[in-house]
Amino acid sequence: MKKRKIRNVGFSFAGAIAFFVLIAIIMQIAILVYDYICDRTDNVGMIAVLILILIVILSAFCTAFDFIRRKITIERPTKKILSATEKIASGDFSVNLNIEHSYDKYDHYDLIMENVNKMTAELKKTEILKVDFISNVSHEIKTPLAVIQNYCSLLTCDGVDEETRKSYAKTIISASKKITDLITNILKLNKLENQEIVDNKEVFNLTEALSESVIDFEPLIENKNITLSCDFDDVTAVSSKTLLELVWNNLISNAVKFTSDGGEISISLKKIGDDAEIKVSDTGVGISSEVGARIFEKFYQGDPSRSEQGNGLGLALVKKVIDVLGGEISVESELGKGSTFTVLLKGVVNER
Ligand SMILES: Nc1ncnc2c1ncn2[C@@H]1O[C@H](COP(=O)(O)OP(=O)(O)OP(=O)(O)O)[C@@H](O)[C@H]1O
Ligand SMILES: [Mg+2]
Repeated sequence: MKKRKIRNVGFSFAGAIAFFVLIAIIMQIAILVYDYICDRTDNVGMIAVLILILIVILSAFCTAFDFIRRKITIERPTKKILSATEKIASGDFSVNLNIEHSYDKYDHYDLIMENVNKMTAELKKTEILKVDFISNVSHEIKTPLAVIQNYCSLLTCDGVDEETRKSYAKTIISASKKITDLITNILKLNKLENQEIVDNKEVFNLTEALSESVIDFEPLIENKNITLSCDFDDVTAVSSKTLLELVWNNLISNAVKFTSDGGEISISLKKIGDDAEIKVSDTGVGISSEVGARIFEKFYQGDPSRSEQGNGLGLALVKKVIDVLGGEISVESELGKGSTFTVLLKGVVNER
């Protein structure tokens, strides 16, 4: 990009010449007036008084000129910036300073104004994100809390038989688990975003780690009569085993959740040079292109009727982890036919 030339405030070459010419004219006038007075009188006292008056008038003229120049070039933009920063400090992010000069004639004040505009736009965006986040979290907590309250009051009713009591207790446990999961995910995401989670890299067997995650899901997979096929290369990796566990768990849990009974899930791990490529495919409900464009956003869930299952934070976490560890994630899907999530972990393969 072409580097922009910024004009200094209160100084320009043309301005300096104009100022020089003005002083020269004033000096010339002073000399002419002095000659004129000397030609007409020999009274030294009078000459001194007239010269003094002349000096006062010319000095006042120069001061007035400088005063107006400062007012226009320094005081006016300073006041404009000051009032804008006062508004921002009081929480008003609607500020947008009008920059009078054209882009190629920017001076330092215009540059400060441009930066103030950029800062307020950024603050406005963060404010919107914060409000959205708070309303999403409140919404996600309110629903299970209402379930807990209702079922707890049902438990206090007389004549609840053992069987019903157990089923109420199960519902309460699963609703409270939903809140715990939500808070755990928010904390993890927050730590990842604030870069508080140091990606403790270690040498570990990626094939074993992936297999362990798959084994954890086997009971669920069997429950839904899903056929599972795995094709794993033997890969030793240098990366964060614990962070990657989040990735495998979320991708496999989604595949199971969004695949109907009797469907298929296949998981593969391939070594491609220094990179490791992991694919999780399912023959589930699939994802439309509109939904696909948003699945990595926090709290986004494609099908609101499934909002009971999860909070829409899983893939946001997955994406963040992949970004932190240096990799890529992509999705290919066809509505009604299934989805394939591909994770590429760059430069993780350890050959020793
Ligand atoms: N394998 C998949 N098949 C179909 N849709 C999917 C799949 N994986 C994700 N999605 C879509 O992407 C959305 C976001 O997924 P994400 O994992 O972030 O949230 P979630 O699974 O709904 O909730 P959570 O992960 O918090 O339990 C899902 O709600 C779903 O609409
Ligand atoms: Mg999920």
